[in-house]
Amino acid sequence: MDAAVTTTPAVLILLGPPGAGKGTQARMLEDQFGLVQLSTGDLLRAAVAAGTEAGRKAKAVMEAGDLVSDEIVIAILRDRMAEPDCAKGVILDGFPRTTVQAAALDELLSANGQKIDAAISLEVEDSEMVTRISGRYTCGNCGEGYHDNFKQPAKDGVCDKCGGTEMKRRADDNAETVASRLQSYHAQTAPLIAYYEGKGVLKKIDAMGQIDEIARALSTIVKGAMD
Ligand code: AP5
Repeated sequence: MDAAVTTTPAVLILLGPPGAGKGTQARMLEDQFGLVQLSTGDLLRAAVAAGTEAGRKAKAVMEAGDLVSDEIVIAILRDRMAEPDCAKGVILDGFPRTTVQAAALDELLSANGQKIDAAISLEVEDSEMVTRISGRYTCGNCGEGYHDNFKQPAKDGVCDKCGGTEMKRRADDNAETVASRLQSYHAQTAPLIAYYEGKGVLKKIDAMGQIDEIARALSTIVKGAMD
């Protein structure tokens, strides 16, 4: 009888400024590799919508484009990673965003006998961010992302993925908030690029091209990292 093969669940991190395409690419990787996308932005928006204590604290901070406290975000992420579906492996989208969060992730993974397979930095110019964010909308039912110019559903107003017809735009997707989000990114998150380079897991990808081209390049990186 063959010995049982056990594998450690993959852990991938997508780093990048607001609007870089983390969510777009994470959903494509999720479909392709059977991993679970964990977006702290989505988890926080769900907490705001549910009116939990964490959500009430996060709401104004998110609307201003600042970072929610490490304490709240780490607790939300830790709870989500303990759910059974994460045993398939995860793509972290928007976490970690500070050195404190990166250290908490290292601790959590080490306690679970896991490691980071790759931290992939999506490299985009700031000027592109406003264009991408201002045209963004998502399906209110399944969360699939679209863009007024770059990614429209085949049938206007109907989600390609689930057939939903309620499209939403985010409260923090306006020029003023985007400027603060970019500032937070450069001050608090960009230093993580050097942090992961130091750990030997950093990969950089030019994310200024077309969505499908970037997806192909990412897929090659992920296949290599998961081998
Ligand atoms: P979050 O939801 O994580 O937002 P973000 O990082 O600002 O990133 P976005 O979701 O805006 O962009 P994205 O990179 O996913 O781009 P997308 O794929 O949608 O966080 C929101 C807030 O929550 C934060 O400001 C903070 O307050 C709080 N928060 C979250 N995590 C936190 C943490 N860890 N710590 C503290 N606070 C936290 O693409 C954008 C658009 O462009 C789409 O319309 C898409 O279709 C289009 N697009 C994508 N790729 C391309 C391309 N290659 N060419 C053309 N268009 C493209």
